[in-house]
Amino acid sequence: MAQAKRVQVAIVGAGPSGLLLGQLLHRAGIDNIIVELRSAQYVLGRIRAGVLEQTTVDLLDEAGVAARLHREGLIHDGTQMAFGGKRHQINFRKLTGGKTVTVYGQTELTRDLMETRHEEGAPTIYEALDVSVHGFDAKPVVRFHKDGAEHEIGCDFIAGCDGYHGVTRASVPAAAIRTFERVYPFGWLGLLSETPPVSEELIYCNHPRGFALCSMRSPTRSRYYVQCSLDEKAESWTDQMFWDELRRRVDPEAAESMVTGPSIEKSVAPLRSFVAEPMRFGKLFLAGDAAHIVPPTGAKGLNLAEHDVRLLADALIDWYDHGRRDLLDSYSADCLRRVWRAEHFSAWMTAMLHKAPNGDEFDEKLQLSQLRYVTTSRAAATSLAENYVGLDRV
Ligand code: FAD
Ligand code: PHB
Repeated sequence: MAQAKRVQVAIVGAGPSGLLLGQLLHRAGIDNIIVELRSAQYVLGRIRAGVLEQTTVDLLDEAGVAARLHREGLIHDGTQMAFGGKRHQINFRKLTGGKTVTVYGQTELTRDLMETRHEEGAPTIYEALDVSVHGFDAKPVVRFHKDGAEHEIGCDFIAGCDGYHGVTRASVPAAAIRTFERVYPFGWLGLLSETPPVSEELIYCNHPRGFALCSMRSPTRSRYYVQCSLDEKAESWTDQMFWDELRRRVDPEAAESMVTGPSIEKSVAPLRSFVAEPMRFGKLFLAGDAAHIVPPTGAKGLNLAEHDVRLLADALIDWYDHGRRDLLDSYSADCLRRVWRAEHFSAWMTAMLHKAPNGDEFDEKLQLSQLRYVTTSRAAATSLAENYVGLDRV
């Protein structure tokens, strides 16, 4: 016999989307539960995003989870583009009328959200197995196994915040959903180390050997990436091999001053563009990576996820407080406008900065011309800056 429970909103997935949605709903007095496949430690062990738009920071403020972010987050006025052995700055603050981004790891943000949820006594079920969603056209139910017992949660709405490989999108009948996808013929090999960052700003590098990115988590912790082939295994790269390859791809000044050290983490991420339309199926709403993926070159994935969550929380609050359904009805279209803008920007940044495995010198010449354009034309630089810091209206 399944153990039954009822909540207003059942959230599948405790990544940044599910946790922030849970927090916004909890603060609005809407009772919710999060059901997560993995353990909290596993979720916190995944090293991912690092760059937050101002609108994401504002939303985290509103959710009451941004105190540590304001203490420890690093505000970046611009970013660097390296090509042809030289670095060029794109100054976001100057080009966008004062906007900046904040560098704060997704791991830290997730930890802040988890701790707040725990302190406020809102429930999260970790290590929930065989999670399945049912009846979202009328009476939604989430089922799962935990510690050998079967559980069932009846609810008004299900939020599918379970990432690209999750169960919620996969449960939608094929005829009700359209997907758009581009898989890139390369990945990113990332390394985290307890070393000071090579530069005060991120460096995006275009190099004949492939793309490289110099990022950071704090004044003493660096995050670096190099473009790699899709079949690359992180285990086959020694730290020394990684540092040598990175040094070959960055500008000479960065190669000279880079401080190296043992890795804390190394992993390979494939690059993908993906959108599922629509993002709502009756009483099931998809949010974040469950509905869309961008290649990380534009630093947009987490920001898009949190934007979906803001719209979904507003729509649910309006429904519970005022019985209005227009925001629920427009949720999918409202999200998808911003999603497609981010898809375009991320694909464009990826094309400009990566070495195409089957590309030729013509492709390289086009990339270099585009890079010179964005680093010399105010209009082109403004377009990059505006998209990177996040557009107010899309
Ligand atoms: P996820 O973080 O994937 O969370 C989904 C959760 O659902 C997971 O905890 C998962 O365990 C759980 N789950 C999965 N299946 C089930 C199931 N069947 N049942 C229950 N739970 C389930 N974005 C940025 O904005 N800026 C960046 O700088 C940036 N850099 C990135 C760098 C890399 C290398 C990568 C890989 C991504 C980067 N991103 C970046 C993207 C960002 O990390 C994601 O967009 C973000 O994690 C999306 O959050 P989410 O909560 O929607 O999904
Ligand atoms: C990161 O720090 O992990 C990071 C930063 C910028 C990106 C992608 C990843 O575009």
